[in-house]
Amino acid sequence: MTREEALNSIKANVENGNLIKHMLATEAIMRALARRLGEDEEEWGLTGLLHDIDVELTQGDMHSHSKLGADLAGELGASETVTHAILCHNEAHGTPRETKLDKALFCVDPLTGLITAAALVRPDRKLASLEANSVMKKFKQKGFAAGANRQQITQCSEIGIEFDQFIEVGLVAMQAIAADLGL
Ligand SMILES: [Fe+2]
Repeated sequence: MTREEALNSIKANVENGNLIKHMLATEAIMRALARRLGEDEEEWGLTGLLHDIDVELTQGDMHSHSKLGADLAGELGASETVTHAILCHNEAHGTPRETKLDKALFCVDPLTGLITAAALVRPDRKLASLEANSVMKKFKQKGFAAGANRQQITQCSEIGIEFDQFIEVGLVAMQAIAADLGL
C-alpha cells in the first residue's frame, strides 16, 4: 500500500477535518521517531496515518474502535505488525502492547492533542513560534487539554526516548507539516 492509497481510504471513511489532521500529525511524529530510533519509517508512518481510520464508522463504540481499523488497514495491505499496533492502541480490547511500534503509537497518539492545544493558545495560534519548554509547561497543567492523557504520553520511556526529547521530536515533526495541520 502506498501512502496515497492510505490517504485516499482515510478520506473515504473520515469526514471530520480535525480527525484527519490528527492522523497526519500522528504520522509525522511516528516518522520522526522511526528515523531517530532507527526503525522502519514507512511502516511507522503508515501506522500513525491509519490508526484512527475507523473512528467515525464505529461511532464511539470503544469495543469496535481499532478492531475495525485494524481490519480496514489489513484489507488495504498493511502488515500484521501495523495492524497489531492499531488494534492495541485502544486499551478496551485488553490486547497487550508488545512491539516498539505498538508502544510508540500509544504514546504519540495523545501528544498530538497536547501540542495542538498549546499552539492554539499562542497569540498567533501557530506552531512556528511554539517552543518545547512551553509544551512542557502545558503538560504540567492538569486542566489544560485534559483529554491528552499525561500518563500515556510519559510511556515514551518504554521506547527508549527521554520525555523532553519526545516532546521536542513531536513538536518539530508537527511544525514541519504546520500548513497541512492549518496551524
Ligand atoms: Fe488517535
